[in-house]
Amino acid sequence: MNYSQTTLTMKSSMIRELVAITKGVPGMISFAGGFPNPVTFPRESLSEEYRLAVDEDGADTLQYGASEGDEQLKRELLKLENEPGLTPNEILVTAGATHAIYMYTRTFVDPGDVVLSESPSFLGSLVAIEAAGAEVLGVDSDNEGIIPARLGERLEECHRLNKRVKFLYVIPEFQNPTGITTSEARRLEIIAVAREYGIGILEDNPYGQLRYFGTGIPSFRTLAREKYNDRHTVTLVKSFSKILGPGIRMGYMISDERTISHCCSWMQKTTVTVDCVSQRAVARFIAAGKLEPQITRIRDYYRPQLQAMLDALQKFMPANVSWTRPEGGMFLWMEVPEKINTDEVFVKARELKVAYLPGSKFYPSGSEHYNTMRLNFSYPTVEQIWIGVERLAGLITQAIQEVSNGQSR
Ligand SMILES: Cc1ncc(COP(=O)(O)O)c(C=O)c1O
Repeated sequence: MNYSQTTLTMKSSMIRELVAITKGVPGMISFAGGFPNPVTFPRESLSEEYRLAVDEDGADTLQYGASEGDEQLKRELLKLENEPGLTPNEILVTAGATHAIYMYTRTFVDPGDVVLSESPSFLGSLVAIEAAGAEVLGVDSDNEGIIPARLGERLEECHRLNKRVKFLYVIPEFQNPTGITTSEARRLEIIAVAREYGIGILEDNPYGQLRYFGTGIPSFRTLAREKYNDRHTVTLVKSFSKILGPGIRMGYMISDERTISHCCSWMQKTTVTVDCVSQRAVARFIAAGKLEPQITRIRDYYRPQLQAMLDALQKFMPANVSWTRPEGGMFLWMEVPEKINTDEVFVKARELKVAYLPGSKFYPSGSEHYNTMRLNFSYPTVEQIWIGVERLAGLITQAIQEVSNGQSR
């Protein structure tokens, strides 16, 4: 009965609930989930590192560890990141990206403060940011990422309404849900606006290593450092969820020393440390040179799945349907004619044994669109992708016909 207002008004991520109702249905082809394919988990090589992390390092790893993170892991992360001048005090090991995003928000936000995000964005992060006390407002994005002019307008609007904006949350590579990668020109413009208004940028990049085609773009953090010698505006969050397995709950945050120290203070009051055995096992995994081959293996595994989805959409989807063409990640985003509500088509699709996530679930409150959907290609097989896209195309063609019949009546 004494639950706090925060608890009682906290939003849940509808995504989990929707994915759950598509599971366990015989014959279902699901593009709904956001899970890595378990085939990609490095079970054998990781289990060896876990064994060593207990057998050889157990006196250390079964003990309470430093809240800042395992020193050996941080040494490996410094090598991986290869950021000039980066020190261990600018890295905090976290229990995945969500944990980092929550602690960063707690560090910066007082109740009522505003956080801006791409619209649409990853609902799991938005609800974590809201649970940490922020009001999340969306900024319109296009195929190159957030539109800088809209960002400026949002900031001006908040200023007029006396709302304090603390930071901008972005997913720059193979965004969840759209698959879009923010262009370099956009990144530079967005950094300039953030610096002008004195707000931070929280750069969440769990998919960057999953590039199957094309060449990479420097991170927001690198660009801010190279162009403005600014190591303060951008905090970069990375995760091992999509390259090793989300079950190990391992990620990290790179920021200036003061921000890391404040976030670490939140760590001390919540989880104390991230699981020390897992940290050491991951450190050993990287030190043994197993990470690069693992990433190559995943890329080789997902590349044909993305290609199959792009080819199947091209072959089966009717005109007036468009979709993004990501070069990596796990998702793409489809837009159908405005009169079609993908929340409604979802119910019919389920009967036809094909599932996706309605796009409406990915917008900050108040800016929902109902004619979009997220399609995941990391979980289904190539064969399932072809069959599932054909089923979905049939449904959408039917929905378009129904709308046009309704209009001509
Ligand atoms: C953009 C984005 N951020 C964060 C997460 C959560 O990652 P983690 O498992 O590291 O908490 C996800 C997971 O799907 C994601 O897509």
